[in-house]
Amino acid sequence: MHASNSSCSGDSLSDSTNQVCCGLVGRSRHAVVVQSPAKLNIFLEVCGKRPDGYHELDTVMVRTTFCDTLTVMPRDDQQLRLRFSDATTESLRHGVPLDHKNLILKAAEKLREFHGSSAPGADFVLHKQIPPESGLGGGSGNAAAALLACRTVWNLPTTDTELHSIAASLGSDINFLLSGCRAAVCRGRGEQIFPIPMTSRLFFVAVRPAQGNSTPDVFRRTRIPETPVSSTNIAQCLADGRTSQLDNLMFNRLTTAACEANTEMAELIARLQHLTRRPVFMSGSGSTVFIRCQSSLEARKLQSQVQQRLRVTAWHLEV
Ligand code: C5P
Repeated sequence: MHASNSSCSGDSLSDSTNQVCCGLVGRSRHAVVVQSPAKLNIFLEVCGKRPDGYHELDTVMVRTTFCDTLTVMPRDDQQLRLRFSDATTESLRHGVPLDHKNLILKAAEKLREFHGSSAPGADFVLHKQIPPESGLGGGSGNAAAALLACRTVWNLPTTDTELHSIAASLGSDINFLLSGCRAAVCRGRGEQIFPIPMTSRLFFVAVRPAQGNSTPDVFRRTRIPETPVSSTNIAQCLADGRTSQLDNLMFNRLTTAACEANTEMAELIARLQHLTRRPVFMSGSGSTVFIRCQSSLEARKLQSQVQQRLRVTAWHLEV
């Protein structure tokens, strides 16, 4: 499988759609293990509403080191079965379906259909760490991981371009996570990927309130601006490695609507701002919010300060 660790360095959409470089971490005779990373939207502008009901986006996504892990084993029959790893905590299982509503099984089924349903079945074991309804793209990353793993365990001739087209038909964030890019400007529904050549590392502390957000609800409540802000400056800033200037350029148009819908999240943002005296941003449609740090050490210190003082679970994410 050529879905190894090659980096995305292309700078055009046509290049990027041919790249699939998500994290295959291991393969035995029977199983494929794929890492399924979380993303953060460090910039998100809503440019308009489309006739198909989706919103036209201009967003910058970064791929983090915070991952679920998906293990896939081929079956002798045609069944597709999904279960959690024993180590997946009860709280993370909550709200994640294990039937055909899960994007892992939808992705596997679509890939099989694409090849005329001739492929056998598979067993999927999901070790979940990324909370659902958090704006971190957990479900989308799982779908990307399933596409890559199934192509390998079923030994299918699917091209990277075909895999991207199946990904786009399943959801808006899957293509970015399938691409394996560290950072990209994403347009259209979010499925058009323009990689940003980034060499610097980024450090964040992320916190999620107990209540998640409904993405359709947040989009419905959002007012579309007359003059959208462009991602050009933040993309250039990342490409130039001017990471200390990022705080002035990070932005998310969905924040106001998400705060209206989730007052617990709005309160969490205020408490984090008060505690840290730093800008706090939201990823995707929330409800995860995050703070950028200068270093890994600073992020670890802030993570423990936030956990102790606010009595919430905080994660230290790196890009
Ligand atoms: O594509 P995905 O399944 O992630 O989208 C979930 C929902 O979020 C969509 O059904 C739609 O209501 C909303 N959405 C949107 N515009 C986008 C992406 C998502 O309105 N660009």
